[in-house]
Amino acid sequence: MVDASVAKQLVQAIIDNLPAPVHGRRPVHTIGVGVKGEFVASDVARTYCIAEHFKGPPIPVSMRFSNGLGGLEQHDGWSDVRGMAVRFHLPDGTASDLIATTLGEFFVRNVADFFEFAKVAKLEPYRRRYWLLKIGDFLRLKIPPRNPYPNETVNVDAGALRYADRHRFSQLGIFQVGLIGAPESYARASYHAVHTFWVTAPDGVRRPVRFSWQPVAGVRNIGAEDVSRDKYLFKEIEDRLKRWPARFMLMMTIGEEGDALDDPTKPWPGTRIRIAMGTLTLTEVPEDQEAAGERISFNPCRLAPGIEASNDPILEARRGAYEVSRELRGGCPFRWRPDNADSK
Ligand code: HEM
Repeated sequence: MVDASVAKQLVQAIIDNLPAPVHGRRPVHTIGVGVKGEFVASDVARTYCIAEHFKGPPIPVSMRFSNGLGGLEQHDGWSDVRGMAVRFHLPDGTASDLIATTLGEFFVRNVADFFEFAKVAKLEPYRRRYWLLKIGDFLRLKIPPRNPYPNETVNVDAGALRYADRHRFSQLGIFQVGLIGAPESYARASYHAVHTFWVTAPDGVRRPVRFSWQPVAGVRNIGAEDVSRDKYLFKEIEDRLKRWPARFMLMMTIGEEGDALDDPTKPWPGTRIRIAMGTLTLTEVPEDQEAAGERISFNPCRLAPGIEASNDPILEARRGAYEVSRELRGGCPFRWRPDNADSK
């Protein structure tokens, strides 16, 4: 169990790295849009997991799409990790959350790594890289850093790349962050929960699994020439849902002997069995965005009976960190209750 002071330090480390922390808002994934929808489990889902939302009847869902960066500036066209936080509202009034991003693997293995990363990956002023140095990068088989986008003054990548140079385990995640780009729509990206969870089947068998959301509309990024497109993602999802619902398939990959269970930096082989657990249908961007997304505090460890957190130290650290962040941003008339009551 990560103690409360460590959870506070984790959130503080994030806040210390922000150019301008925004009081009362999430320190990262600060801007987002709340969406309403419904989840319907597939026929096979209940044979793998006894959790309530996999039983079959439609489950109402509140979810929030977000841009990963901390701060209120909205540069949708810039390369950034996007978030998809989903809350399944269960019939007995409790809830189960699933938080995912467009990143396939995370870049640190545990709390100690995270603190070191936060020290090294400080934001710094952007400097254009001199072309001779870029040639040097190519000769040393290094990808030269990209030039700043128009009006981009703070470099969020340089420190992270320095960290990646020193830590092989972080490279998969950090290089993905650098290349991730911008989606054409929040509904046209796939999102991964990165950690391992344990699910229990009706016959009592427990399996290690990883979850991801696949968009039925297909994955599509905007082109590099479109980076200057600010503020299109919220409007796009609102307009899209007025015309037609957007759908995501919830995929569950089953781990096998030898797969990393407690390390979110390590991918599993692509040959693992993947089960389609159900379909999320998004129907509406509610007008009251405070209630639909901003006031909700998602937590990756708020899990319905039948799903358990693994011993992944990052997952465990997030349990407390998200709670600290909720308290800091305040304004939410609810308390975290260990009985898993649905706190909205
Ligand atoms: C030690 C590692 C991590 C720390 C300390 C951390 C911390 C935080 C904090 C403090 C927030 C704001 C929570 C709130 O105020 O409600 C947040 C939001 C978020 N984080 Fe993390 N995080 C970590 C790892 C991850 C990972 C591995 C993922 C990917 C699955 C992730 C995805 C997200 C998303 C999508 C949000 C926005 C959720 C929302 O819309 O409410 N984080 N994170």
